[in-house]
Amino acid sequence: MTELTAEDWHFAGNADEFEDEDIAQIKVGPLAIAVYRAKGNFYATQDLCTHERAYLSDGILIDCIVECPFHQGRFDVRTGKAMSAPAFVPLKTYPLKIVDRKIYVKVDRDEAEADHQLQANYRAQQS
Ligand code: FES
Repeated sequence: MTELTAEDWHFAGNADEFEDEDIAQIKVGPLAIAVYRAKGNFYATQDLCTHERAYLSDGILIDCIVECPFHQGRFDVRTGKAMSAPAFVPLKTYPLKIVDRKIYVKVDRDEAEADHQLQANYRAQQS
């Protein structure tokens, strides 16, 4: 798990270890982020699907579209836009940079903690 830091850029893996259409999950504190390599470029979104509680990093990526493993909702990883039912709410996207072939994702502490609270509230509603 990545520790929250003052600078808010979090190591997300080595670029050379990704092939096209790979997805990896990283944790920023309690928050799950999905990192994608799509058509040679890298993108990051929230990992939790906006429909129900599935991780998109367990789904499949074809070109720039990730398909959720639960109900096959689809999202454009470049923008987070929901592309097909039953997913209608867009994914949150995160800035990403590559320095010396290392991938970093920018998530500020307040946002990570807010998202964690949203996920905790969602879990409470489902139980
Ligand atoms: S949980 Fe992702 S489409 Fe239903």
